[in-house]
Amino acid sequence: MYGSEKVTDGAGRTAFRRAEKKYKLYYDENSKSSKKKKQPKPVDLTEVIDFKAILECYNRNGELPRGVIALQGEDSRPVFCLENSPGFYFIPEALSIEEQFHWIKESLTNFPQPPNRTNHNAIYGPVCDLFIAAKDGKVLIHEENSPNSLPGSNPDVGIEDDHEWKFSKKSQHSLRGSKCKSISASVLLRKLRWSTLGVQFDWSKRNYDLSLPHNKIPDALCQLAKRLAKPALPAGIEFQPEAAIVNYFGLGDALGGHLDDMEADWSKPIVSLSLGCKAIFLLGGKSREDPPLAMFLRSGDAVLMAGEARECFHGVPRIFTDKENAETNDLEVHFVHEDDLCFLRYINSSRININIRQVF
Ligand code: OGA
Ligand code: MN
Repeated sequence: MYGSEKVTDGAGRTAFRRAEKKYKLYYDENSKSSKKKKQPKPVDLTEVIDFKAILECYNRNGELPRGVIALQGEDSRPVFCLENSPGFYFIPEALSIEEQFHWIKESLTNFPQPPNRTNHNAIYGPVCDLFIAAKDGKVLIHEENSPNSLPGSNPDVGIEDDHEWKFSKKSQHSLRGSKCKSISASVLLRKLRWSTLGVQFDWSKRNYDLSLPHNKIPDALCQLAKRLAKPALPAGIEFQPEAAIVNYFGLGDALGGHLDDMEADWSKPIVSLSLGCKAIFLLGGKSREDPPLAMFLRSGDAVLMAGEARECFHGVPRIFTDKENAETNDLEVHFVHEDDLCFLRYINSSRININIRQVF
C-alpha cells in the first residue's frame, strides 16, 4: 500500500508524479533569502474540481458540470459520482460541524491510545495521552539506567519495557540535567503521522496483523461508516468496518500516490473522512501514466472508493494551512470553549483523514 509512496519516478516521468509536483507546496526562491516569512509559491488551482461549488450550483438550479452525476443520498442530499471513474463517490458536507468537532477530538485523544499503534511506537513504544501531555507542556524522557537505552539499538527492543519512555513535567526534567534523551510532547504531537484502529496494520510487513492486540473500532465510527458507505453498495449488502487508518497532516505533509490493496474484498468501499484544513486529492487511473483528476477535500467531506476505484492510484499532494485557503472558519466558531482551544490550535494548521476499511 504505502510502500508505493516511495516514488521511483522522481523526475516526474509519470502523469501522476507530474500532478503531484504541480500541486505540492513549494516556497518562492526569492522569499527564502529575505527576512520576510517565506511565501508559498502560487499554484494554479483552476483545474481542481470543487464539489462545494458544484453542490451549491446543483442545489440552486439542478445543473451539473459535464461528467458529474448526482445520486440521491440520505435525507435526499446529493452524492456525486464521476462518469469516467466508476466506484468513486464524493459526499460534500457529509459530517455536520458537531460531528467534525467530535471526530477531531477523538482523533487526537482516544484514537492514538494503546493498543492502537502510531508512527511513534517503533521508537518510543506505546505512548499514552500524548495530546494531554502536549497541552500540559510535558516532555517524554528516556530513563537513563534502562538496560535498553543503548543508542542506536533496535527501536523495537525497547517496547518490552514500557516504563522506558515516560512523560514528565518540564521542570523535573531540567532538574535531572541533560544526561537522558528527551523529546517534548508538543514536538511528538506535531510528528504524529498515523494511528491505526481495529485490526492493526503492520507497516513493516505492509499487511494487517491479527496477532497484534487490538480493540474493535469504536461503535459510533462503525455506524457512521456503515451509513456513509450505502451509496457504494447494492441494496441489502452491509459494509463491515474492521480497521481504520488515521492520517495526520501538518504543513508541507503529503500522501504519495498509492493503492490500498491489502483488503480482501475490493467491492467493499473505503470510507474516507476529511477533517481540518482543506486539501487537494488526486484520483488517478489504474496506471501511474493516467493523468489524475484533482479535487478539493474540505473538512466534513467524505469520499468512497469501491470496485474499480479501488484499483486507482490516489494521493494527497497538498494541504492548505493559510487562513484564506484552509477553510476552517466554521470549526473556529464551534471550538469556543476554553478547553477546546488546544484542538482549534492544532486543527487550524493540520488535516486529519480517517479512512475506514473492511479487511476480510
Ligand atoms: C489513505 C488515503 C486519503 C486522504 O490513507 O489510504 O488515501 O484523504 N487517504 O488523506
Ligand atoms: Mn488510500
